[in-house]
Amino acid sequence: MAESSTDTHQWHCVGKVEDLKRTDGRKIYMESGTPLALFYLDPKRFFIFSAICPHAKGPLEQGDIEDLGDCVKVVCPLHFYSFDVETGQSASGLRLTTYKTEIRGDNLYVFSPEPVSLEKTKLSSNVQK
Ligand code: FES
Repeated sequence: MAESSTDTHQWHCVGKVEDLKRTDGRKIYMESGTPLALFYLDPKRFFIFSAICPHAKGPLEQGDIEDLGDCVKVVCPLHFYSFDVETGQSASGLRLTTYKTEIRGDNLYVFSPEPVSLEKTKLSSNVQK
């Protein structure tokens, strides 16, 4: 199984847990502008993954979340492919890019290659390598 490298990943603060608790999905952004989908499920479970469906670029932040007990899946609103929100795997063989999350104190953190923001405010030209 091909895993994407996480060598360049670090833990980045997303925001306050209380502010991020919404049952519907929302779009957040990496510093470069890459959109991510953020979903919350009770109790205190957050999932962050690419907002762009690997099938045909459907908006996964608008997808439905299904808690199947042993796994949680997002269903793409365009053609209804579903993806495991932790492993990224799907029955189609396509793979979604997913990111680990962790709650530390009052804040949610994501293990990602870039800092994240709730708004698309920063451009890649501002990123120092
Ligand atoms: S674009 Fe997501 S299933 Fe087709």
